[in-house]
Amino acid sequence: MIFVTGGAGFIGSNFVLDWLGQCDEPVLNFDKLTYAGNMHNLAALKDDARHLFVRGDICDGEQVLALLRQHRPRAVLHFAAESHVDRSIHAPGDFINTNINGTFSLLEATRAYWSELDADAKAAFRFLHVSTDEVYGTLGPDDAPFSETTAYAPNSPYSASKAASDHLVRSYHHTYGLPTLTTNCSNNYGPYHFPEKLIPLVIANALAGKPLPIYGDGQQVRDWLYVSDHCAAIRRVLDAGRLGETYNVGGWNEMANLDVVRALCTILDRLAPKAGAPVSYLEQLTYVADRPGHDRRYAIDAGKIERELGWKPAETFDSGIFKTVQWYLSNQAWVADVQSGAYANWVEQNYLNREAAA
Ligand code: NAD
Ligand code: DAU
Repeated sequence: MIFVTGGAGFIGSNFVLDWLGQCDEPVLNFDKLTYAGNMHNLAALKDDARHLFVRGDICDGEQVLALLRQHRPRAVLHFAAESHVDRSIHAPGDFINTNINGTFSLLEATRAYWSELDADAKAAFRFLHVSTDEVYGTLGPDDAPFSETTAYAPNSPYSASKAASDHLVRSYHHTYGLPTLTTNCSNNYGPYHFPEKLIPLVIANALAGKPLPIYGDGQQVRDWLYVSDHCAAIRRVLDAGRLGETYNVGGWNEMANLDVVRALCTILDRLAPKAGAPVSYLEQLTYVADRPGHDRRYAIDAGKIERELGWKPAETFDSGIFKTVQWYLSNQAWVADVQSGAYANWVEQNYLNREAAA
């Protein structure tokens, strides 16, 4: 079996669903169920014996080690993290705790388990660390995209904590020989994306008649990748990645935020026209104060994973974003459920002062 951390979050749940859609190898899904973890994402696996869910914290090394010894996975795939940049600005402590201390505890538990395996199992074992392009910092308009050799220069507490976790993973390979792999991926979007992030937030706010908040001038660039393409890349790296290596994953889809929001409004105008159409959702667009330390541009050079492992994204931005809007329109109960929790407090905290300052 494989041991997945954070498999109730956005990318982790997509990964678990895709994995069990494609093979029968069981998954032990270990997740703390923070505000971002959601068992509804995994509803399709409710009666599926191939999916074993255990609630727990990666900082609890003893629990992790006991589970590893009991279930004897051939790989640990580490998705669990605090993942939202704005939250890391308001409350960095959780990011240090989960992303740095939690990754350290997980590595220690994995190292203890791995050292007890027989030679064949030891050689076959993998620890795959799921990381982000944000560790590389920000690019100017004419800079080459991030490659695996770009120097780390994180600018937010989130990206700094992910950078630290990447370094720990690297050190466990070089110092202890742990068979690690690291992926650094660009911005994902797709089903089960928590509506604190730009794309699902804009869809939800548009339909609710609320402002579509654009930080600063909206010209910040992100490199968008449909989530199932990221999941396919992770499977490919797990299968064939070279030990100790890192692989950048991206969609060759650089877009300014404003253009992303415009694209969403255009699709929504077509699929769910506003009452009183031809009024467009674009009318709800609202400029708000910028994110402190906001990285201007991310772009990924995905050449290494393409050349070495033959991975390429299957979706274009146009096909992926259309599917995404369709998914949100068909799953408004999922959004309403997520929004019924502590979400309202977050929205108030993040946007109230911004609008006043814009
Ligand atoms: P998410 O916030 O949607 O989900 C995180 C999951 O981890 C949740 O289920 C949460 O309950 C769980 N978790 C948090 N703290 C935990 C802890 N201490 N112990 C156990 N579980 C815990 O995040 P996501 O967007 O799915 O991102 C998954 C991973 O991919 C993260 O490591 C993130 O840095 C990385 N990543 C994300 C993106 C993106 O665009 N979302 C892009 C590149 C890389
Ligand atoms: O690049 C990979 C990263 O992508 C991941 O490591 C992170 O976990 C993930 O959250 C994402 O980070 P971003 O900060 O790029 O994503 P977010 O959706 O929060 O914001 C995307 C862009 O949109 C960013 O430039 C900020 C802007 N934005 C965001 C929100 C929530 C707005 O303009 N308005 C908003 O209300």
